[in-house]
Amino acid sequence: MIQKFGRINLPFIRLGSPSNYHPTKLFENSGYKQFNLLNNKLILCLEDIFLKNAITTRQYSTPTHTKNSELPETSTKPTGNSYHPLYGCYTIKRTFSDNCNKMAPTLAPKVKLNNGYEMPVLGLGTYESKNNEGEIAVKHAIDVGYRHIDTAYFYQNEAEIGKAIKDKIAEGVVKREDIFLVTKLWNIHHEPDRVEGACRKQLELLGLDYIDLYLMHLPVGYKYVNEETLLPKNDDGVLQLSDVDYLDTYKAMEKLVKLGLVRSIGVSNFNSEQLQRILDNCEIKPVTNQVECSPALNQRKLTQFCKERNITLTAYSPLGRPKPDEKKPEFYYSEKTKALADKYKKTPAQIILRYLVDIGVIPIPKSSNPKRIEENFNIFDFQLSPEDIAVMDTFHTGERLVPFNLIKGQNHKYWPFSIEF
Ligand SMILES: NC(=O)c1ccc[n+]([C@@H]2O[C@H](COP(=O)([O-])OP(=O)(O)OC[C@H]3O[C@@H](n4cnc5c(N)ncnc54)[C@H](OP(=O)(O)O)[C@@H]3O)[C@@H](O)[C@H]2O)c1
Repeated sequence: MIQKFGRINLPFIRLGSPSNYHPTKLFENSGYKQFNLLNNKLILCLEDIFLKNAITTRQYSTPTHTKNSELPETSTKPTGNSYHPLYGCYTIKRTFSDNCNKMAPTLAPKVKLNNGYEMPVLGLGTYESKNNEGEIAVKHAIDVGYRHIDTAYFYQNEAEIGKAIKDKIAEGVVKREDIFLVTKLWNIHHEPDRVEGACRKQLELLGLDYIDLYLMHLPVGYKYVNEETLLPKNDDGVLQLSDVDYLDTYKAMEKLVKLGLVRSIGVSNFNSEQLQRILDNCEIKPVTNQVECSPALNQRKLTQFCKERNITLTAYSPLGRPKPDEKKPEFYYSEKTKALADKYKKTPAQIILRYLVDIGVIPIPKSSNPKRIEENFNIFDFQLSPEDIAVMDTFHTGERLVPFNLIKGQNHKYWPFSIEF
């Protein structure tokens, strides 16, 4: 059946029609009985369907419109045969075949940051995802439903991460504002007059107009040699540190917010005293402190400290980088975790990540394996009971997986890990 639709004809497909395609599956739970195709492209607001919300429909005028914002909004939801041709849903450029066999992904819940922006409570880590691996991983992750991506200048993959995001925007899978991109100022750029240049260079690598969240990677600066020397060492292999005060670095980062280059700023690997010093001396509150956090180092005290100050805690190395040969970390391979996995019909990784979400932190597991990217995301259909959270708490030893050995032992005044939290 062809329906006259503004200036173009749209084929109208009904649920249950003897179609060779299966996009109807996408809409089975959405209340839609019909949907439209335009030049073999779906023209429904997929994200809304993914969220299983009533779809905000928009008046369709011409096929040349590409932005929702250009279209008048209505609250009409098309249902069954009463679908009104004037209120066709609109946008996405995903091709029909892209969607054929994919079910709508669930998105992660978001936490409201102290500046009003929202951050998904699970992100994709990308350390060591390079040489195309990062690009492929991020594209797959976005398809799966990840909207929070974590990278850094140090990871040397910002160009491919940015490309993956731009490609997904071009495909119409997401809009820029759907993505929460986190990257970090590297330690060689702590001199205040290097900060803006470093950030602009990272934006150029990413190919984006702004960064959602820019973190100071570490409170300790390194000596600047050149842009490529990320770990400056002397002839004896000793890492060359700088004594730039992280307060001065942070104040230079505040300017980036004012310039509109970044939306939020935060810190990483800061202890509670360093965080308090930032709060006491700076204008813009950090929105997060990204630190190592897993069942072995659950950061309960630092999380509470942050929470009292309306700062989130992002959990890096949440899975403890599992090593099957060594059966480490213990919390991943333990029978206790396996028993919980059996109980909830989940995997150990899912139990660990859900535990972290349940204790109020934001894990960013890294994977470049498609199955594990999916596995790590599939944690929003269950919750651990308080008793089972207590079981996971027993793995806490306080031991660090990422001890920053090259700095440790240099007695630097800003070394963060010499106090309890
Ligand atoms: N701010 C900082 O100083 C800092 C420091 C470290 C990390 N980070 C950030 O945090 C992210 C995560 O931390 P991380 O990479 O250190 O450690 P992680 O996420 O705990 O572990 C990553 C490792 O686990 C494997 N893996 C992923 N999912 C798995 C699963 N379901 N089952 C078994 N193995 C799995 C990955 O291999 P595959 O890829 O093969 O799946 C990878 O080798 C980093 O990528 C980075 O973005 C920040």
